[in-house]
Amino acid sequence: MAYTRTPRTERENELLAITERLLPAGARNPTMNPEHALIVREAHGSKIIDESGNEYIDYLLGSGPMLVGHAHPAVVGAVREQLEKGNAYLMVSEPTVRLAERLVDAIACAERVSFCNTGTEAVYYALRLARAARGRDKILKFEGGYHGQADWVLMSNQWTWQPQALPKPVANSKGIPKSVEGEVLVAPFNDIEATAAIVEAHADELAAVIVEPLHRTVPPHDGFLTKLRALTEKHGIALVFDEVVTGFRLAYGSAQEYYGVTPDLCAMGKSISAGHPIGVVAGRAEIMEHAEAVRQITGGYVSITGTYSGNPVSCVAALAAIDLFAADGVYEALFSKGRRLMTGIQSMLDDAGVAAHVCGEPPAFEVWFCDAPPRNFRDMLASDFGERAKFTSALLERGVMKAHEKFFVSLAHSDEDIEFTLEACREAIREIAESSG
Ligand SMILES: Cc1ncc(COP(=O)(O)O)c(C=O)c1O
Repeated sequence: MAYTRTPRTERENELLAITERLLPAGARNPTMNPEHALIVREAHGSKIIDESGNEYIDYLLGSGPMLVGHAHPAVVGAVREQLEKGNAYLMVSEPTVRLAERLVDAIACAERVSFCNTGTEAVYYALRLARAARGRDKILKFEGGYHGQADWVLMSNQWTWQPQALPKPVANSKGIPKSVEGEVLVAPFNDIEATAAIVEAHADELAAVIVEPLHRTVPPHDGFLTKLRALTEKHGIALVFDEVVTGFRLAYGSAQEYYGVTPDLCAMGKSISAGHPIGVVAGRAEIMEHAEAVRQITGGYVSITGTYSGNPVSCVAALAAIDLFAADGVYEALFSKGRRLMTGIQSMLDDAGVAAHVCGEPPAFEVWFCDAPPRNFRDMLASDFGERAKFTSALLERGVMKAHEKFFVSLAHSDEDIEFTLEACREAIREIAESSG
C-alpha cells in the first residue's frame, strides 16, 4: 500500500509544544500514542488533513458529529447565509421553530422539544425534567455507558478501570460531590433480570433510567430495550434514551425507530447539526411542559434555558443536515458502506486467526479483541485494549483515522475510501497477527 506519513513540520511541532504548555487536556490524540499527536489543518468530505499535510480517511468524524462529512456545501451555504443575518438573538427565530417541527415529525418520542448546546447539557436537562416530573431524585444508568460530563452521569462510564459491585457507581472524575454518588445506581446492559432487580428495589426513589440504545458499540440483545421499556413503564419511571450518538445515525427516526422502542425523553446532539454546537431534549409533552415559563408563577417550573440555546446558526446547520438525511436511499448507502467494512474486517481477522470481533451497527462499530462479541461493559473490560490500541495506531500510520474506541462511517465516505480502508485494515491485522504469533 503506497501511503507514507510525512514527518511533522516545524510549525506542527511548535503548535503541539504550545498545546502541551497551555492546554491541560492536550491535543486529543485519536490513537493515544504520543507519536500520533497532531494538529488539524482542515477537513473536507471524508478526509482530514494535519498541519504537516498528511491526509487521512476520517472515521473519527469529530467524535461523531460529521455524519454528512466535513464542510458539506449545503451546510456551509446555510450557515454562511445565516451569519449575514446575525447569529445570537436569545429570542426564537424561524430556523429554531422549523427545526422543532422537523424533530417532532422525525422522532417518535418528541411531542415537545427544547434546545441547548451540547450532548452533556441535553442529558443534564433531560434528567432534571425527569426528576421534576416524578418528584424523585435517583437515576439509573448502565455500566460503561457514556452520557457526557454532568456530575450525575460521569459515573461508571467506559473509562472505569475498577468497577464496584453493582449497583454502586464509580465516579470517573475528581471534583464530583460525594453526595451525587448516592443518587446514581448502575446496572449491567443487556441483563434485564439484574436491571429489574435493581429497579424494583429502588422503584420508589428513581426518577429515570438512562441508556444509550446502542451501548457504545454493543447492540441490545434479546429485546433488552423492549423489556426495559416495559419495566420502566410498570413503575412509572421515565425512560431516557441518550441519542447523542445514535440520533439520525441509525435511522432517520434515530435509534428509537431502528430498535422500535419509544422512550419518554431523549437527548440528542452531535450528528444532527453537522458539527455546529447543539443539544436537544425531546419527549412527552407532560414532562417537557415543566419547562414552560408560566410555571415560574403557577409552580413546577424546570429551568433549562441558556444564552445560545436554539441559536439560528446551529439550527440552520441542523435543518440542512436533516434535509440530507431525508433524501432517498441515504441510510441504505450508509449501512451498505458500514456493512462492507464490518464484514470485510471480520473475515480478515478470522483468516488471520486473530481473536477479535467487529461489534456495533454499520454506521458506528468497533473491533474488540476478545474471544466472543462483548454483551456488556465487563466483557469490554476483559478485552485486550493493547491490541486495540495497536490496531488503531497501525491504521493511522496507513492513512486511516478512527477514534481509539470506534469507527464512525459518514455519508461522504466513497467506495474508494472503503477499499483503501479495507486494505489498510488487512495490513494492520497482518502486523498484529505477526506480532502476537
Ligand atoms: C452517548 C453520548 N452522550 C452524551 C455525550 C456528550 O456530548 P457532548 O460531548 O456534546 O457534551 C456524548 C459525547 O461523546 C455521547 O457519546
